Amino acid sequence: MSDSSKPDFEPTASNAPVPVGFIVAFVVLFYLSTLYLDGNAGGFDAKVYEPFTSLDVVKAVQPKGNMDPRFEKGKAAYAIYCSACHQSNGAGSPGQFPPLAGSDWVNAEGPNRIIRLVMNGLAGPIVVNGENWAPPAQMPPWGPVITDDEEFACLMTYIRGESEWGNSASPVTAEQVEAVRAEVSSRVAPWTQEELFQTPEQ
Ligand code: HEC
Repeated sequence: MSDSSKPDFEPTASNAPVPVGFIVAFVVLFYLSTLYLDGNAGGFDAKVYEPFTSLDVVKAVQPKGNMDPRFEKGKAAYAIYCSACHQSNGAGSPGQFPPLAGSDWVNAEGPNRIIRLVMNGLAGPIVVNGENWAPPAQMPPWGPVITDDEEFACLMTYIRGESEWGNSASPVTAEQVEAVRAEVSSRVAPWTQEELFQTPEQ
């Protein structure tokens, strides 16, 4: 009668060598995993997540927007000096402040008249897009306030180029502003519409 609970071999304990195949497989897997990390870890940059593989790829898919620094500078100046009356959407206010959005003065072929108008202000009636305006208030002079020609030019560039207002006129340079400023520097009175009509648009 045999004892069925007895194993048919004796367990042994010894230092058997690690199989060579095992070492080879480990080295190959280690090498492949470094290749994988190299290709997929985004250079260990915290800003890079799957499915992007590098910071350049992430940058390439960022929204572009209008990141022209001159436009952004003009937009900031507009918020400070102009939006209280003409509103941040450029629509103005009925009977009080005429619109800059879509305005034929703002979108004129050249900036000659609006540089003057904004530099020295405007008094009296004005026709904007064929509509008669006789606002109770004047347009204040901004030349003495915005003394930096480049900032002034950026502001003109912004109001002429703000596509959200439907405007798409050409940009304005600091040289154009400087030339007009030199010409009108001794003037204190605000312009009238009739006087501005005597100045060519460009
Ligand atoms: C205190 C209110 C006020 C502020 C601030 C103001 N404006 Fe005006 N603006 C007016 C008024 C009022 C008129 C119309 C004046 C008139 O007809 O006599 C006007 C007219 C204009 C016009 C010509 C009309 C048109 O609709 O195109 C332009 C261009 C203009 N403003 C640009 C600006 C810019 C740029 C700024 C900021 C630097 C500015 N304004 C700040 C009140 C203001």
